[in-house]
Amino acid sequence: MDPINLCDYEKLAKKLMRPEAWDFVDAGCNDEATKNRNRSAFEEVLVRPHFLVDVGVRDLKTTVLGQEISFPVMIAPAGSQTDAHPDGEIASARAAGKSGTIFALPTASGHGMNEVATASTGPLWFQLYHYNNELTEYLVSMAEKAMYSTICLTVDTPVPSPKERDIRNNHSGPEMSWGSLKDRPDLLQHRSVGIPDTINWDPPGYTGLTWDKLDWIRSLTGLPLVIKGIRTVEDALRCVEHGVDGIVVSNHGGRQIDGTFSAIETLPSIAESAEGKLEIYFDSGIRRGLDVLRALALGARAVMIGRPVFWGLAVDGEAGVTRVLELLRLEFDRALAYCGLKSVHEIDRSLVSIPPNWSARV
Ligand SMILES: Cc1cc2nc3c(=O)[nH]c(=O)nc-3n(C[C@H](O)[C@H](O)[C@H](O)COP(=O)(O)O)c2cc1C
Repeated sequence: MDPINLCDYEKLAKKLMRPEAWDFVDAGCNDEATKNRNRSAFEEVLVRPHFLVDVGVRDLKTTVLGQEISFPVMIAPAGSQTDAHPDGEIASARAAGKSGTIFALPTASGHGMNEVATASTGPLWFQLYHYNNELTEYLVSMAEKAMYSTICLTVDTPVPSPKERDIRNNHSGPEMSWGSLKDRPDLLQHRSVGIPDTINWDPPGYTGLTWDKLDWIRSLTGLPLVIKGIRTVEDALRCVEHGVDGIVVSNHGGRQIDGTFSAIETLPSIAESAEGKLEIYFDSGIRRGLDVLRALALGARAVMIGRPVFWGLAVDGEAGVTRVLELLRLEFDRALAYCGLKSVHEIDRSLVSIPPNWSARV
């Protein structure tokens, strides 16, 4: 059976991946309530189509921090892609390049920053986990040299997340190799403490990530800084005060703290307060082209996908990820036409209806 949507890719990937690798990718934190809510909440965002409009030619292009992308979907930074396919991040970056969009390389990558930059043809971001100053300085300068266009600092991991499936499987995350540190074995000593996504996190020397530290990271580089993992209006506005260029409204796919709002529920109020002050991106739960349209209508400039990239990798490596992106593009294009729109830039808040209490509650 050829997959015709991302759900088909999910089912196929589950059959193909080792069970503990599947669990690592699929899991959410604790009861996985937030992970599940990330999907169910999308159904409460109801779309208002418009007809009798000439939508014969549609333009899906947009820009992200001045960089043109062919449609408003990017690949989220996600560790352990080599567990789904040996080519891992190289395959995903190539697929993104082919699809004319951005690939964000995670700190916890199997392949290194230089390898991925050499292999890829499209724009690249580097996702940074701050562990200590020395590592951060090294990784940021490496990203600059390897021509990564943006530093994407993930802030929603102050402690390791209890993914209970990993605990049951005795799966402490894949090696969590930091491919970018292959040339610096001295810094690799830190690797043994793992990264915040693993369950065996014992952080000697960890200096913590605070607003002051964010300012310091900002001062290290002239590259644009995007903060990933923003869930509240207050934190979004603090990002504005601290001069960051963009935020990803994201709950890490429900992998960090459980029992929060879904990411899409938090987007409208964050967008209302921060729109125009920085660029706003969104992830957590995007599975359909219609979800892309919903997120853009609620204030995102572009979205990211996480787990679907692993599904594409597991099924067919680079070709699988390319197809996953293609399916989303086709569905998004159709959704745009049904809404009587010819361009991504015509999408606005009037296109969707959300429960009246969403903004008040977040
Ligand atoms: C297996 C896996 C590993 C991830 N690793 C990282 C990571 O290293 N850094 C990070 O910022 N986010 C990481 N994420 C979160 C993604 O960037 C993204 O926020 C999330 O997957 C979006 O939700 P979705 O999977 O529902 O699309 C990871 C997600 C998954 C599924």
